[in-house]
Amino acid sequence: MEEDRRKMKFFIRTFGCQMNESDSERVAGILARAGAVKTEHPEEADLLIVNTCAVRQKSEEKLYAYLGRLSQLKKKRPVQVGVLGCIAQLRGANLLGKKLAVDFVLGPDNYDRLPHLLGKNLRKKHVLTSWSKAWQDTPAELVLRESPPSAYVTVMEGCDNFCAYCIVPFTRGREKYRPLRSILREIVILAEQGYKEIQLLGQNVNTYCDPESGKDFPDLLREVGRTEGITWVRFLTSHPKNFTPEIAEAMASVPTVCRQLHLPLQSGSTVILKKMKRGYTKEDYLEKIALLRRLMPGISLSTDIIVGFPGETEKNFEETLEVLAKVRYTSLFSFRYSPRPLTEAFRLEDSIPLEEKTRRLEEVQRLQKEIQLENHSRQVGSVMPVLCLGKARRTPQLYTGRNEAHQVVNFASGEDCRAEFIDVRITGFGPYSLTGERLNGR
Ligand code: 5AD
Ligand code: SF4
Repeated sequence: MEEDRRKMKFFIRTFGCQMNESDSERVAGILARAGAVKTEHPEEADLLIVNTCAVRQKSEEKLYAYLGRLSQLKKKRPVQVGVLGCIAQLRGANLLGKKLAVDFVLGPDNYDRLPHLLGKNLRKKHVLTSWSKAWQDTPAELVLRESPPSAYVTVMEGCDNFCAYCIVPFTRGREKYRPLRSILREIVILAEQGYKEIQLLGQNVNTYCDPESGKDFPDLLREVGRTEGITWVRFLTSHPKNFTPEIAEAMASVPTVCRQLHLPLQSGSTVILKKMKRGYTKEDYLEKIALLRRLMPGISLSTDIIVGFPGETEKNFEETLEVLAKVRYTSLFSFRYSPRPLTEAFRLEDSIPLEEKTRRLEEVQRLQKEIQLENHSRQVGSVMPVLCLGKARRTPQLYTGRNEAHQVVNFASGEDCRAEFIDVRITGFGPYSLTGERLNGR
């Protein structure tokens, strides 16, 4: 305790996707190795790190509101504030304006420089947003993870697709792949530490190519899938254009790879998909879904939808609804189109009024809710393994976990079963989760 008091304390707030969450674990590890201590309380931190998301305008606005709150905190006592992630890369030195009270800005390829900035003269500001062409490896030991049983493992970073609406290629740069040997080493260590599930991460995982051996994504799945102690392997994000029959076959043939896939559709209209520069048609997409279901009956599918892309007509939008009704996804993330700087679509008129985007968004969500309620009602009475992740947040008398389909399952258990696989019988449901009772143990 005495020792801890003298050490620098840091707090990390993470916005955005799983990649950011995973990066924050790496940043925490780098800071811990440099002698700092993680705290969950911003009021007691000497260093406040914000890991940011640039994907929609709203995520950027949230950051500025949050930085405003931090600058209030900074008026009370001296703290260092660092902005990391996609907005750091995008806005660079513009984040150093006086009002925001930011001391340093680090783009995603610069986190290994953090120890050099610790405790630096607060008057001197730093901005590091250079790109590195090659993969920069962080040893598994340097990652400070939240507790088991599910671990994110980054296998690639960046994106070469330049979808017309997406800022990611400008914030994460070109695709870079992590050496397979480093990925496998990390997963073996995770299995030894008691992790049961691995989620392979990357903006475009399907194009994975080992820089040392040339092995591809199906090879990666087969090799990761063999790791002793790892029961479930998942991956995201897949791009329908790069999702090949070989990948579907590898999924079907490796027993540890979950029968679950996130495959962002974005729009059900081929005309809009073309404007979005997605590189597939509605028919191509549906063919891939049909193949997946042939090879893996009952596979659980989820997707991302953007409504109100420039020029999206009512008819185009209805095609999206039709695909949703046809595929019947397990879950779905939907967004109103948001113009982002540097992207191709930024130059187009943002032609769909906000109220109309909102109406379309609500319609997607209403339909999806109906589909989920119907899907869930058919699951009542079934028994399934659930990987327990801990106590349910809103109902602490229950435990919560995920099944193979990646659905949330809340269940009663007489004993703490965190990080265990529990057989659960489904007894009830809501639109976004299932509830049940534990069968094995107590
Ligand atoms: N506007 C709205 N949604 C977007 N997404 C990416 N860029 C935008 C944008 N400019 C969504 C896509 C993507 C998800 C991560 O965020 O659906 O799959
Ligand atoms: Fe963005 Fe498209 Fe790349 Fe996904 S594939 S990160 S949507 S540019």
